[in-house]
Amino acid sequence: MKQRVQNMNIDGKRVLLRVDYNVPMKGNKILDDIKIIQSLDTIHYLLDHGCSIILLSHFGKIKTKEDFATHSLQPISEYLSNLLKQEVYFSKDNFGPLLSKRVAELQPKEILMLENTRFLDVPNSLESHCDPQLSEFWASLGDVFINDAFGSSHRKHASTYGISEFIPSGIGFLVQKEIEMLDQYVLHADHPFTLIMGGAKLDDKIDLISSLLPKCDHLLCGGGIANTFLETLGFRVGASLTSKSLEITEKAKQILLNHKEKIKLPVDVIVGNTYDKSFIAYKLIDKVEVNEQILDISAKTIAEYKKIIDESKTVFLNGTVGFYENPKYANGTKELLEILKKSKANVIVGGGDAASSVRNLGYESAFTYISTGGGATLDYLAKGKLVALDAIPEEIELLDL
Ligand code: 3PG
Repeated sequence: MKQRVQNMNIDGKRVLLRVDYNVPMKGNKILDDIKIIQSLDTIHYLLDHGCSIILLSHFGKIKTKEDFATHSLQPISEYLSNLLKQEVYFSKDNFGPLLSKRVAELQPKEILMLENTRFLDVPNSLESHCDPQLSEFWASLGDVFINDAFGSSHRKHASTYGISEFIPSGIGFLVQKEIEMLDQYVLHADHPFTLIMGGAKLDDKIDLISSLLPKCDHLLCGGGIANTFLETLGFRVGASLTSKSLEITEKAKQILLNHKEKIKLPVDVIVGNTYDKSFIAYKLIDKVEVNEQILDISAKTIAEYKKIIDESKTVFLNGTVGFYENPKYANGTKELLEILKKSKANVIVGGGDAASSVRNLGYESAFTYISTGGGATLDYLAKGKLVALDAIPEEIELLDL
């Protein structure tokens, strides 16, 4: 395990804490605060140890100055103030002498949140390209760096990785919990171990599928992932979402060849029509027409998937098996969640869409663990490491002599 905050000498120190407050928002309203809630353990721990805290986070993707108006972290600092019942000061400056001066005035147990780290991506991508001078400047603001931004730790950016090259660094409680849960329940899963993969694009998930397939007993597919496999097998999938990349379809072919007996694909589906938005129909998988789009799985598929889930000891759910945001195509996703809720298996949910569907449909408390990561969860499971943590040393166990 990497150096953990609880085993570092942080008493009374000025701590740079990288969190992932890239949360879904509508205007100034936070739609899902789970990442903020999950960051509180580390914040409380640092406050209890008399630290002053400088919070860093990105929010959204910043391409031009026009994005600044809609991507400030100020509303999130106010939200955090309410949760902590203490003022979270906000600094519009996230670089330069004024910020250094403000930080120098920070008192023990005070919190200062900096403006969106990605504002420094305009014009030169300093944050995203892990600029050494920016990393060194941020490092100069604190004595210690703690990374608790699990959801951003697949990014080698200045605020996630760069700072840790300059000052003593460790990981917070959320990163620890995520790694422990994913190690225990997915990378070292009890068998039978079933993987359920849905979502729009196989391209983003092919590496994860390749690395987990040898470790799992079954792969149940839905969404664009299933469509690409079906098309590779010669099924007509009409106007459905599929991968257009030759490289990905080649890999899909290899995966099907090597693991045919583990992979289950939909046998019946619900389709819509690209030209007639009111059209909806049930189809066996070999009856999909050219203009039709597969948008959900249906009864026979759900029954087959249920049999496998009922015999599983572990299930990892990633993505959704249908276009669940439209209630017409939410049935497959809902039924699967209901089956998972009733199953005896440890169910781990990972990846942004799957986690949102679980929370939006009210299944939050039904499962063993819901990861806060999207790309980070998939990256960790595929590679067994997170690039942002590379410069954080492994913990040296203190032996009781
Ligand atoms: C996420 O929401 O998955 C993380 O915050 C990472 O965001 P990013 O894909 O914009 O780096």
